[in-house]
Amino acid sequence: MAEWAIAVQAVHKQFGRGKRRVHAVDDLTLEVQSGQVYGFLGPNGAGKTTTIRMILDLITPTKGQVRLFGQPVRHHAGVLNRVGALVEGATFYPYLTGRKNLEVLARTGGYFDPARIQSLLELVGMADRADRPARGYSTGMKQRMGVAAALLGNPDLVILDEPTNGLDPAGIQDMRSLIRRLVDEQGKTVFLSSHMLNEVEQICDRVAIINRGKLVREGAVKALLAEKTRLRIEASPVEKAMQILAPQWTLSADGDSSFYVQAGREQAPQIVERLVTSGSQVYQVMIQQQSLEELFFEATQGAN
Ligand SMILES: Nc1ncnc2c1ncn2[C@@H]1O[C@H](COP(=O)(O)OP(=O)(O)OP(=O)(O)O)[C@@H](O)[C@H]1O
Ligand SMILES: [Mg+2]
Repeated sequence: MAEWAIAVQAVHKQFGRGKRRVHAVDDLTLEVQSGQVYGFLGPNGAGKTTTIRMILDLITPTKGQVRLFGQPVRHHAGVLNRVGALVEGATFYPYLTGRKNLEVLARTGGYFDPARIQSLLELVGMADRADRPARGYSTGMKQRMGVAAALLGNPDLVILDEPTNGLDPAGIQDMRSLIRRLVDEQGKTVFLSSHMLNEVEQICDRVAIINRGKLVREGAVKALLAEKTRLRIEASPVEKAMQILAPQWTLSADGDSSFYVQAGREQAPQIVERLVTSGSQVYQVMIQQQSLEELFFEATQGAN
């Protein structure tokens, strides 16, 4: 059994007082097992960055606590040595080169190693631009440097707040394979927030969706999507086919010759067999899976 990298336990965060009070995070409980890519999703203002700040002990929860690798992050700041993070864009000394910026950060962290810095620059695709002053970097270049900075201390847990922000399509693809490699080849845990739902669907093992500071969905990506799978069946005569299945499945008509069955892929052979043995002719069975994007809108509708 893998250990919990992150445990957010009944955490609340309020900002302001009286009429101006904002419940940014409202009784949030979340557990992230190590060795996976975990996606943290929610509309603008849902409380993602606030949660990430509490995970990193940059701000204190109003109630509840955060544990990293079993240790409460408050008063056990040492556990943060196992964590690397990029929160809402990285900031660099503008007049220093990208490489120098990483060197300064590495020295501060006590892990200065020029060869490692060079390999990280290559990893994030910045080796050829590392010796230019950071002030000339584009948003995407800063983002890449920010990821390199997060990885400097060879952390077990990498927390990335919108890592694909500002990246071009090639950059997004690079980031995706980089994140998967960190987990699959180096055994790290990655916790990332994102608005790019198709990216998240492709790289995350598990996701949590929050809305207005509250958890609304959580689970393995595959399981969440499978829950909403349906089969579209074209059969003749269609009324008879529906009658045969009606006692066991939830059905809805779709035009004159087809209908939908609320069922997963694994039930398709059983359904087809039932139809065929009772004299229906089956012309087509299509498995329709919901996308993470559809699931997201369903979970967060009425957000604004
Ligand atoms: N320092 C602060 N003072 C007051 N309110 C704050 C502060 N930080 C965040 N908030 C409020 O808390 C809520 C959650 O903000 P947060 O930045 O965590 O959202 P988010 O999910 O990261 O959104 P986005 O997708 O836009 O990055 C918002 O209503 C925001 O206005
Ligand atoms: Mg944010």
